[in-house]
Amino acid sequence: MEKTFIMVKPDGVQRGLVGEIVARFEKKGYQLVGAKLMHVSRDLAEAHYAEHKERPFFGELVDFITSSPVFAMVWAGEGVIGTARHMMGKTNPKEADLGTIRGDFGVSVGMNIVHGSDSAESAERELSLWFKEEEVTSYAKTL
Ligand code: CMP
Repeated sequence: MEKTFIMVKPDGVQRGLVGEIVARFEKKGYQLVGAKLMHVSRDLAEAHYAEHKERPFFGELVDFITSSPVFAMVWAGEGVIGTARHMMGKTNPKEADLGTIRGDFGVSVGMNIVHGSDSAESAERELSLWFKEEEVTSYAKTL
């Protein structure tokens, strides 16, 4: 089953949006198969955002993501990588449609509430960076 990495960033955790974001993915029909509230080390932050290393905002990005806990998740389901991107909305909340997570709750591009893998390759890379194999479960829906 397709899997993706979704993270509620420090602003989303601080603003009490973890439940709202989890609920949106649950209601859509996706399955939560891994989750942890964690402080991000600088090494992990720099590895996660390696593609932005040369951007002027890289330092700010790493400072922010390591500033207070994030809620890291693994979601599974058909087409979850692309659909999760639609559910999050555009990177800049000012341009994100209402009804998306960033459109409904975000204001600035630096504090845009949530991160999600942008392709199958990113999902594979990010999941292996953030989660050990034994931290990701799988289960049939029986109830
Ligand atoms: P994210 O999906 O986590 O991936 C890279 C992040 O860089 C992005 O969300 C934004 O939060 C952040 N970002 C992109 N552009 C800028 C910018 N101009 N200034 C600060 N942060 C940015």
